[in-house]
Amino acid sequence: MHETTDRKRIAAADLDTPVVTVLLDRLERNIARVQDIVARTGKRNRPHVKTHKIPAIGAMQVAAGAVGLTCQKLGEAEVFIDAGVADDLLVTFNIVGSAKAGRLMDLSERIGRLAVVADNETVLHGLSEAARGRGRIVPVLVECDSGFGRNGVQTPRAALDLARLADRLPGLAFEGLMVFPNTAPRTLEFFSEAVSLFRASGVPLPTLSGGGTPSLNALSDYPMMTEHRAGTYVYNDVMMVHSGVAGWNDCAMHVRTTVVSRPTADRAVIDAGSKVLTREQYYVRDFGHVVEYPDATVVNLSEEHGVIDLSACRDRPRVGDVVNIVPNHCCVVSNMVDEVVGLRDGMVELVWPVAARGKVR
Ligand SMILES: Cc1ncc(COP(=O)(O)O)c(C=O)c1O
Repeated sequence: MHETTDRKRIAAADLDTPVVTVLLDRLERNIARVQDIVARTGKRNRPHVKTHKIPAIGAMQVAAGAVGLTCQKLGEAEVFIDAGVADDLLVTFNIVGSAKAGRLMDLSERIGRLAVVADNETVLHGLSEAARGRGRIVPVLVECDSGFGRNGVQTPRAALDLARLADRLPGLAFEGLMVFPNTAPRTLEFFSEAVSLFRASGVPLPTLSGGGTPSLNALSDYPMMTEHRAGTYVYNDVMMVHSGVAGWNDCAMHVRTTVVSRPTADRAVIDAGSKVLTREQYYVRDFGHVVEYPDATVVNLSEEHGVIDLSACRDRPRVGDVVNIVPNHCCVVSNMVDEVVGLRDGMVELVWPVAARGKVR
């Protein structure tokens, strides 16, 4: 599955910058480790591809034991199905409108199982109409909001109502519930109540799908969940280190950048700005972790410049030095570049096109 170019055998040190690199030993270790964690808690592993957007990495996840993959957008699913890397996909996004419902049906005709989530009646009716037109049965999970404050029905009772509607509508088969992330504050309460309510109502719940990398060390706290969708774990990033689920040595994505200016004793400017690192912060204060200078702070980004405060550093880089940055949020960095370069032992081993880059529809 590895796609290579003539850059093979080039040393990492000779790569032009900025460049997004993937440390392949770490990537492989992360995939194996999380497969083991999920399997040991008796759940099915269904990694989310939005982090890497690279079919070859999806194939590695399936080869490690994932039952299938998760895509956020139909465009991602189209790329992964074209690449033939999975026969079982879950699309975790409400499909609104007949054009998208038609695309979903096209895809569902091409693989063994394509399931989708829904959190409202409009989406269910649209899916049903499209499925009926094709003579297909589409598996549906009802998305629940257990405190994250995004999509999702607000109560187990509302989930049951939607489940019953899905079962009544032609072309749909209710298969269970889905939530993101497990760490949302009411997940345990919501799902415990839902399991009792559905049981009392005689509606089977074959799939309870949880998600997120930060909850990986606490999967056994959610015993009712049958599958888990983690995404960020393949690369990890500053947020995952802050959440305690990864260390710096688990971070497989590095942005290699060159110091292009040292305007003052305390300031370095690198050739990667918001067009590579993005300005994502969530709960992080600055804009990335500098591997070689852990006391440095990436204090600001403009589009093509990254500004680093060196005042806490004893050693300081010179103009022309290359530094590696662990981004705050690796998933959005994937969407910024056409390709990532896979490194092993300081050498380029492969170049992967980020095939689902920009596939946001
Ligand atoms: C619906 C859904 N499932 C799973 C994930 C994976 O979560 P993480 O990136 O924390 O592993 C995400 C991340 O955005 C998501 O939106």
